[in-house]
Amino acid sequence: MKKLIISTGGGDAPGLNAVIYAVVMSAHNKGWEVYGSRCGYKGLLDPEELTRLTPEKVADITSLGGTILGSTNKGNPFGMPVENLAGEIQILDISDKIMRNFTRMGFLCHIAVGGDGSLDIARRFYEEKGMPVIGVPKTIDNDLYATQLTFGFDTAVSTATDALDKLHSTAKSHDRVMVVEVMGRESGWIALNSGISGGADVILIPEIPFDIDKVCEKINDNDLHGKHYAIVVVAEGAKAMGSQVIHKEGQGELGREEVLLGGIGEWVAKEIRERTEKDTRSLVLGHIQRGGSPTTFDRLLALRFGAAAVRMAGAGLFGHMVSLKAGDMEEVTLEEATKKRKMVDTNDDKLLTAREIGICFGD
Ligand code: F6P
Repeated sequence: MKKLIISTGGGDAPGLNAVIYAVVMSAHNKGWEVYGSRCGYKGLLDPEELTRLTPEKVADITSLGGTILGSTNKGNPFGMPVENLAGEIQILDISDKIMRNFTRMGFLCHIAVGGDGSLDIARRFYEEKGMPVIGVPKTIDNDLYATQLTFGFDTAVSTATDALDKLHSTAKSHDRVMVVEVMGRESGWIALNSGISGGADVILIPEIPFDIDKVCEKINDNDLHGKHYAIVVVAEGAKAMGSQVIHKEGQGELGREEVLLGGIGEWVAKEIRERTEKDTRSLVLGHIQRGGSPTTFDRLLALRFGAAAVRMAGAGLFGHMVSLKAGDMEEVTLEEATKKRKMVDTNDDKLLTAREIGICFGD
């Protein structure tokens, strides 16, 4: 009897449960067993955190947001900060312990569903400890380099677009400027896609440092054309020319590897208010972009990724990540998949479209 173990790591994304469903069902139909590890690698440390996933257990989870296994973005087994009794932080490497348990339990392969952080940990387990690993690309940010799309992104863009649609009516009623901060870390995919679809006047993304005067010019220009309101979409990682990205307080959370971005929307709103004297409000969409039921597109993509991962396990393609290329399922090495992040290219057709329909990027 072959046994697989699946884990979900990093920030959650709509579609995680659909991946779990497809892995469990595909494996079951091959006569294999699947075990789920709670919150990343916990199941390989504590048997209580390991759960047998049967078809009955995963029935009806495809449409659910979140992950039935739980997730964490603070659990790097190669450098786990632990607070001792004296209140000091010690960095422990527990990767060998995890690898020993993995081997003892006789798993054929670990299916690691994650973004670049979790997939990099999976890569290290494969390269440094010899763990047979297959990666599945997840993130609402869509910043994984070696796949055309990650699941979760389409749902996040739909949520953000829906919010922009709603903001149009209130902005128009009050002749206001509405500044909306969206997620995406150092990439502007969510801002770009939702901004175009949701009729933004201005989109600010990390890939194009902006000049706040240009942004205000565009807003004032709206007035000349009889439009007395404006919608500005700002990616959390966007920055003004010559400035640094804005971080949130509390970025030093125990075990957190990435800084928490946030605050640029409020900064942009304040500058617009002062420079244009327009009534300006800002809001942060935040984790609402990560929640809820996955769109049909994300469900289908997640189900395909899950089934493809099991296919790859059968073929022994360890150390690889399943990827979407030209509409098909392909595999790329985890090394390739994690070597850099996918950013918005200045020649991207969506960017050109946005410019051609009059959207300002502040450059
Ligand atoms: O990577 C996904 C993401 O939602 C980013 O867009 C965002 O910056 C970050 O995670 C937020 O992390 P947390 O869940 O720790 O607040």
